[in-house]
Amino acid sequence: MPFPTHRPRRLRRSETLRQLVSETRLSTRALVYPMFVCPGSKVRDEIGSMPGNFRLSVDLLVEECKSVANLGIPAVILFGIPEQKDEMGTSAYAADGIVQRAVRAVKKGVPDLLVICDVCLDEYTSHGHCGVVRDGEIDNDATLELLARTAKSQVLAGADMVAPSDMMDGRVGRIRRELDRAGFAHIPILAYSAKYASGFYGPFREAADSAPKFGDRRSYQMDPANQREALREIALDIDEGADIIMVKPALPYLDVIALARRQFDVPIAAYQVSGEFSMIEAAARKGWIDRDRVLMETLLSIHRAGADVILTYFAKDVARLLGV
Ligand code: PBG
Repeated sequence: MPFPTHRPRRLRRSETLRQLVSETRLSTRALVYPMFVCPGSKVRDEIGSMPGNFRLSVDLLVEECKSVANLGIPAVILFGIPEQKDEMGTSAYAADGIVQRAVRAVKKGVPDLLVICDVCLDEYTSHGHCGVVRDGEIDNDATLELLARTAKSQVLAGADMVAPSDMMDGRVGRIRRELDRAGFAHIPILAYSAKYASGFYGPFREAADSAPKFGDRRSYQMDPANQREALREIALDIDEGADIIMVKPALPYLDVIALARRQFDVPIAAYQVSGEFSMIEAAARKGWIDRDRVLMETLLSIHRAGADVILTYFAKDVARLLGV
């Protein structure tokens, strides 16, 4: 009979005691803050479905990056809203594209902040798909070429890391080859390996105006029903040279994070996506939940499940709440 010898409540009696035996500790040092950059100057355009998040022009982005770095957040990931979109997403890999300009400015103004670039075409294509469209289908192999070009142009601009989010087969290997050939063997790849076709990306698509104009992304992003397939995707990306793998979204896929943690030795990232952010924000605005408490609980859960790195729109809030 364990009781009354064993009383788990003994270690819960005070905050100090609880902290002493805490199994999981959040730190701003493990967070990546996603940011949206747009053309113009002095632009600070709040995203309707993501309150507190803005489309920033390059000048204001640099200012914001300074305060992000001052909060002890080590990295940002950049998404671009280009001047123009076309069939082939050419502004994704233009030397003077919006993200390329942003990276140059941020690395100059805040050199110690790690700048990660999302590698994908959907923000740059007129049809909103993540790849080249041929006869109504997404042409995998034709897309690889453009993704490789995009990654290389971002690294030439100064990116510290590239993060392909397109879900084309073979893109990690193709990007690795391209970077190695160009003298960037030292630049790591953060692969969105298990990226699900999720309804939780809704607010992001408003932010980047990147909703597909026809069909959906189910022919390339993963089926939410699948868990074993996620492990296969991750294994393939590691084989192709991914340095960090990612599960996305985060909270609805904690099982995938936990399994991946057990099975693989590389660092694991998880993306708490726009819909996860906006749900908490909206419920808090209605007074239905305690925003700060709930956001910390979700991030703790994602970390507890096994994510080493978390991409989250709450990064600055975490810094505030941890008293940075
Ligand atoms: C694709 C990309 C998306 C997100 C990150 N990279 C959108 C999509 O796949 O539709 C979503 C991030 C979020 O919802 O916060 N470039």
